[in-house]
Amino acid sequence: MSLGPASDRRLNALTEADHTYLRRLLHERTGVVLDQSRDAFVEMRLGSLATETGIGSLPEVMEALRTEESWGILHRLVVESLAISETSWFRDAHLWEELRETILPELLERRSGVRRLNLWSAACASGQEPYSLAMLLQEQGPLLAGWNVELLATDFSQTILKRARGGMFSQIEMNRGLPVTNLVRHFRKTTDAWELKPEVRSRVEFRELNLAIPWPVLPQMDLVLMRNVLLYFEPALRQRVLRRLAQTLHPDGILVLGSGETTLTMDDTFEGVPLERTVVYRRRGRR
Ligand SMILES: C[S@@+](CC[C@H](N)C(=O)[O-])C[C@H]1O[C@@H](n2cnc3c(N)ncnc32)[C@H](O)[C@@H]1O
Repeated sequence: MSLGPASDRRLNALTEADHTYLRRLLHERTGVVLDQSRDAFVEMRLGSLATETGIGSLPEVMEALRTEESWGILHRLVVESLAISETSWFRDAHLWEELRETILPELLERRSGVRRLNLWSAACASGQEPYSLAMLLQEQGPLLAGWNVELLATDFSQTILKRARGGMFSQIEMNRGLPVTNLVRHFRKTTDAWELKPEVRSRVEFRELNLAIPWPVLPQMDLVLMRNVLLYFEPALRQRVLRRLAQTLHPDGILVLGSGETTLTMDDTFEGVPLERTVVYRRRGRR
């Protein structure tokens, strides 16, 4: 006898205990706090993982997870599948106008003596953010000849970093914020995707880095984009990350947060620098 679609759905659903377990796992591993309003998102992501791995149903994923040795491959895949990786090209257009017209030119001016620039996209998701920055650099053309420009892009998720390194984007992803001139200049159409050309791709070095645990030593950064990630952390972790960042940022370096994150600097490590179209941050007391 068939149980019918409603029962199937119930059988394939997560229990409240499962949700609590998953929230704890994500928080332990990444510092990200998900509340109950994200339950449907969690079920959708885990459902896709159940299909992709061939495990089958959500209860079976949960059982496999609970019996796996802690932090085995399934733990990693589950936590990575729960990451909110929403991103787009040139996200928040007014910021990118400032980057192109004010922030980058001023940085280039300040570093013209050493001709060296270190840029970091922390929590880079599938790469649209660092690649947008790489396209801005590419626009500088011969101006950067002889410069040593390092553009580091990091995320905790190995899955998303693999996608980002691949430099292949679906039509839907391309439709999200990419100006047509950039599409024509920097991409090649393949049968079912768009491939970023090597001259832009090769400007970005992708590396795994979890912001919630002590980082490896990084070069002193001139510009850090840490956007749309701190808002998922608890205040204490945000503060720890900002304090660590203050040590990684060059004394006159610039920090850029997401557009909804301007109040995150409850911490006094950084101060806002109002520009015409946005606010960026620098270490307090620096001029
Ligand atoms: C919403 S996306 C933001 C992407 C991009 N910065 C932007 O603003 O478009 C958040 C990213 O943060 C990453 N993330 C979450 N917790 C992290 C952690 N503890 N360390 C590093 N990355 C993390 C997720 O994997 C995801 O790719």
